[in-house]
Amino acid sequence: MPDVSVLMTSVGAYLPKKILTNQDLSVFVETNDEWIRQRTGITQRHIVDDGELTSDMAREAALKALQRVGLDGSDIDLIIVATTTPDDTFPSTATKLQHQLGATCAVAFDIQAVCAGFVYALDIADAMLRTGRGRKAIVVGAESFSKILDWKDRSTCVLFGDGAGAVILERDDDPSDWGIRSSILHSDGAHRDILFVDGGPSSSADVGHVRMEGNKVFRHAVEKLSSVMDEALAAAGMTVSDVDWLVPHQANIRIIDGMQKKMQLPSDRVIRTVDKHANTSAASIPLALSVAVNDGRIKNGEIVAFEAIGGGLVWGAALVKYGRPKN
Ligand code: ACO
Repeated sequence: MPDVSVLMTSVGAYLPKKILTNQDLSVFVETNDEWIRQRTGITQRHIVDDGELTSDMAREAALKALQRVGLDGSDIDLIIVATTTPDDTFPSTATKLQHQLGATCAVAFDIQAVCAGFVYALDIADAMLRTGRGRKAIVVGAESFSKILDWKDRSTCVLFGDGAGAVILERDDDPSDWGIRSSILHSDGAHRDILFVDGGPSSSADVGHVRMEGNKVFRHAVEKLSSVMDEALAAAGMTVSDVDWLVPHQANIRIIDGMQKKMQLPSDRVIRTVDKHANTSAASIPLALSVAVNDGRIKNGEIVAFEAIGGGLVWGAALVKYGRPKN
């Protein structure tokens, strides 16, 4: 039994109002609805409006998560925003969010692990709360990926969308089997060239665009995700039969289905939102979690498995007993 527990007590999400369907895309890039659906499972994506920023989406998601459990910004000690598409090079989107939430006592910073950003941020927040550097944290995944897409490159621009999701973590000094049960991360920079952005502050004058050898990324995905999930299960002292829900990173329906089969989970135990949200990078897991908590599928006390892989390569998995023990 751990010394303390770090509970995941709430979730909130935000999606921009503007929707871009596959049909809309086919008007300006050589693609079609059938190809996108068959290869990816995506039917539409949400896209930020002019002037709508990553921090705006992060704020809306964070406010919903706070409201759900009756907290406000002044209750929060730690804010981590996972994003590859911050408002500015600096200061961080997290400090902007801190100010907007009135979280005057919180430590706030961004982390960048692309599509694995949420599981990375979760791991860092868990470690910080466990070691006493705060009692309550907001972990946000927020992305305006539409801003770094090459809208002429059909092999990438059809895959991504914008949005934000946030969870509240709370340290509980009564050790229990609730909350974050395990978290495992990996990185391998040798694969940098199969998924990257061809720009950035020190390498180029431009922000750059997403470049991906999709089939090479695909080949790494299920193998790395299933092996890190095995590690996370072992670290938590669990087996797949203990898992109530898989909330995977939503990159491609074929990767999600591949994971479901590899884990031998019943199909209806996997949360799939890639059809409506596309790949929202660091936001995809908390967005999917929010959908399934709001529609009543994921309930207090159920075991949720998270996994994600992204550019780097970086990947990870976490197991969480969601919610709060009833007194
Ligand atoms: N519309 C129509 N045709 C297309 C499109 C499109 N949008 N995009 C590519 N094609 C064509 C290609 O040109 C190619 O044509 P050719 O055979 O004549 O050369 C054909 O379709 C097949 O292309 P592939 O790239 O081999 O297709 P694949 O089956 O691999 O699917 C996809 C591509 C969907 C990108 C898939 O590889 C994938 O999902 N990969 C993983 C992506 C991922 O998980 N990324 C991780 C996270 S992202 C992050 O970290 C930022």
